Amino acid sequence: MAIYKAGVVGGGTMGAGIAQIIAYSGIPVVLKEIDDKALQRGVENIRKVYDRLVAKKRMTPEELEIQMKKITPTTRYEDFKDVDLVIEAVPEIMNIKLSIFKALDEACPKNTILATNTSALSISAIAAATQRPDKVVGVHFFFPANIMKLVEVIPGLQTSDETVEEVITLAESLKKLPIRVQECPGFLVNRLLMPYLNEAVLALQEGAASIEEIDAAMKATGWPMGPFTLIDALGLDICAEAGKVLWEGYGDRMKPAELWLTLQEMKRLGRKGGKGFYDYTQGGPSDPGKPDSEVAKAIADLQKKLNHPKTQFTPERLMALIINEAVLTLQEKISTAGEIEIGVMAGLGYPASKSGLLHAADAMGIDTLVDLLDGFTKELGFRFHPAHRLRTMRNAGHLGVKTKQGFFSYS
Ligand SMILES: NC(=O)c1ccc[n+]([C@@H]2O[C@H](COP(=O)([O-])OP(=O)(O)OC[C@H]3O[C@@H](n4cnc5c(N)ncnc54)[C@H](O)[C@@H]3O)[C@@H](O)[C@H]2O)c1
Repeated sequence: MAIYKAGVVGGGTMGAGIAQIIAYSGIPVVLKEIDDKALQRGVENIRKVYDRLVAKKRMTPEELEIQMKKITPTTRYEDFKDVDLVIEAVPEIMNIKLSIFKALDEACPKNTILATNTSALSISAIAAATQRPDKVVGVHFFFPANIMKLVEVIPGLQTSDETVEEVITLAESLKKLPIRVQECPGFLVNRLLMPYLNEAVLALQEGAASIEEIDAAMKATGWPMGPFTLIDALGLDICAEAGKVLWEGYGDRMKPAELWLTLQEMKRLGRKGGKGFYDYTQGGPSDPGKPDSEVAKAIADLQKKLNHPKTQFTPERLMALIINEAVLTLQEKISTAGEIEIGVMAGLGYPASKSGLLHAADAMGIDTLVDLLDGFTKELGFRFHPAHRLRTMRNAGHLGVKTKQGFFSYS
């Protein structure tokens, strides 16, 4: 089954971007919003993307109008009567998504694929609201949808392989990099990213190093930006919400640091509000942000209250944790080794020159990684307990680049 016509529900931050890229690829899109005002805003969101292309002379004003004609705005489900696929991008609230999937199930032809762009909700639970769970799938685009290449494709318990293949083919035709991710809290990218960010916050809260020291050290290992700059860019509230989902899913090994809540209570939600771990109120939009005494005082107060012993910071503390999580996802068959590396590079921005986290483990040596994790487990806690796959590899002499065999083969 090919996709000749698509629907998008929700024309906000993600929905408008998704509708735009699908329409731009040549597939007409029906865009549904909750009312006329929201619909107008959604259509304007799409027009803004094209306006930028016109300003860069990559499109003429006439071409812009032709592109806009491929979008049919609506507030009625009846207009989905002949679509082959719908992507839902409404707020991350389960009850809203359930009622939309029920309505879509009734309004769309029985072969239509129903996809959700949810960041964290259960695909299987959403599918259960329909009579076609085999045709319901997660298709997780990243922000901004017109620029970020990665798309996580997440089958639920009953999703058919055919549905997954259809969505992967569509994503490829949109020039995206789709990876198949089995359903688990955080899917792949957030499951790897959030514990890494949380470890940076724990190190800060435990007096191991300052915000700038941790950011500079992680940048020096090849990350495009330090963890605190990244949290400020994503929004502390968004990260803390994702952190809660992971804590609930994986238990105390992903327990969020107390400092998240402290900063949220101080209304320091990141760049969007002017202040997060850094203060952005003095400069313009490209201001890298400055550390300020308010955060330093909050950390000092928290340290007094928690009376936690001071810990040590090295970049290996964060790298060992995120690499171990990547190995756990491999061990659980959440994705293949190759897909994990694509997710890491295209979703987290870990540089292509390092080829991803499993390659980083192979370069470091699996024996060295196990020793590091054992040391951190003793010093910092069970969240560093090495994935059993790592011990198996070490015992078998699959030590990575130095033995020419690790997660990958080297000749
Ligand atoms: N914003 C991000 O960075 C990002 C990234 C990846 C995934 N997501 C996920 O994408 C989804 C949408 O997020 P967003 O940031 O675009 O939200 P948003 O709040 O910007 O947009 C949601 C839109 O849905 C509309 N809406 C609400 N109920 C509706 C209904 N019944 N019918 C039609 N439209 C309705 C709202 O009017 C709003 O315009 C969420 O599940 C979120 O977790 C967001």
